[in-house]
Amino acid sequence: MTESAAKPPVALQVCTTCRAEGESLEPREQRAGARLFAALSAEAKADEITIVPVECFAVCRRPCTLSFSRPGAWTYIFGDVSAETDPQEIFDAARLYGAWPQGLVPWKMRPAFLKSGIVARFPPAPDEMET
Ligand code: FES
Repeated sequence: MTESAAKPPVALQVCTTCRAEGESLEPREQRAGARLFAALSAEAKADEITIVPVECFAVCRRPCTLSFSRPGAWTYIFGDVSAETDPQEIFDAARLYGAWPQGLVPWKMRPAFLKSGIVARFPPAPDEMET
């Protein structure tokens, strides 16, 4: 494992338009995704994790959705994330992702958050691949 301090911050992208079952379209800021984004933004430390709002990952049937990415690493998209998830649980998972080469955390070392809800992962562009 390499030191996370040597790597760029993890981008934690959060769909702000996800709606939990039964939620109405308006007001948008009260949707589950918007609430999750607000909770994460309120507790994030900008030097290690960058929180980015996204309008729809096209995973709308599995709210809330978010992703971890960073240059040269695989990107992971997660679904079924409760808006009430403790932000620290998500940050801990993001830090672990950020610490491993190419973001590939061995299965046995993954916390529960990194074992459940994975919708997809996809590799970085070939010219960006970490070695
Ligand atoms: S509305 Fe959140 S993934 Fe589409």
